[in-house]
Amino acid sequence: MKLNLGCGPVQPEGWVNVDGSNRAWLASRLPWIDRICVSCKLFAPTDFNPSTVWANLLKRFPWDDRSVQAVYLGEILEHFTREEGEGLLRECHRVLELGGVIRVRVPDDAAFWGNYVREYEATRRLPRTQWSSDHTRWTRMHFQEVCTTRPKPWRSMGHYHKFGYDDVSLILLLEKIGFREVDRRRLHESRIDDIQAVENRYDLIVEGIA
Ligand SMILES: C[S@@+](CC[C@H](N)C(=O)[O-])C[C@H]1O[C@@H](n2cnc3c(N)ncnc32)[C@H](O)[C@@H]1O
Repeated sequence: MKLNLGCGPVQPEGWVNVDGSNRAWLASRLPWIDRICVSCKLFAPTDFNPSTVWANLLKRFPWDDRSVQAVYLGEILEHFTREEGEGLLRECHRVLELGGVIRVRVPDDAAFWGNYVREYEATRRLPRTQWSSDHTRWTRMHFQEVCTTRPKPWRSMGHYHKFGYDDVSLILLLEKIGFREVDRRRLHESRIDDIQAVENRYDLIVEGIA
């Protein structure tokens, strides 16, 4: 069994696609009500369906110890606080079999804030009469979009971020939990053979084994 946790619209065959949003609950448990709401234009069409597995990943996972071969977390860890994220990763470690693969994809904070620093430094080198505050667009993006976009009850669980990672902090966190051979990876470079089915874009990607 391979788990795709916080799947959103990415639900390939061969994976157990798990999401905890209200919409995933409705479309997986009561799909006919969901269909009626869509046809009455109360809800937009959904990517969730009866094969989507609903689970709140803040809670203990509904899978047995050492029962899973691979776990993929695509753009989900950053939606948890640092402490919640550690709990989530510990649950991944519990359900993965020995040698099972964990793969985590998150936005790269070092790259994001590197953009800020580069633009700030370029401005700082200019004569004062040419200064602008253009580089603070990264600050605005962080505080006004990344951290504050509110969830819509009948869509996903919200897209705002509660924590951020770089390769160093993510590798150290996975190692602290007990994962081994943890390293940064390129897009689709993985021990998981059909990784391209769940991995739809590059960001900071780290992989290890239980
Ligand atoms: C940004 S989307 C990522 C979608 C997809 N994995 C991808 O790679 O594009 C994050 C998803 O995590 C889900 N999610 C957020 N918090 C969750 C939780 N506590 N339990 C389960 N799913 C959660 C949201 O409903 C949303 O579908």
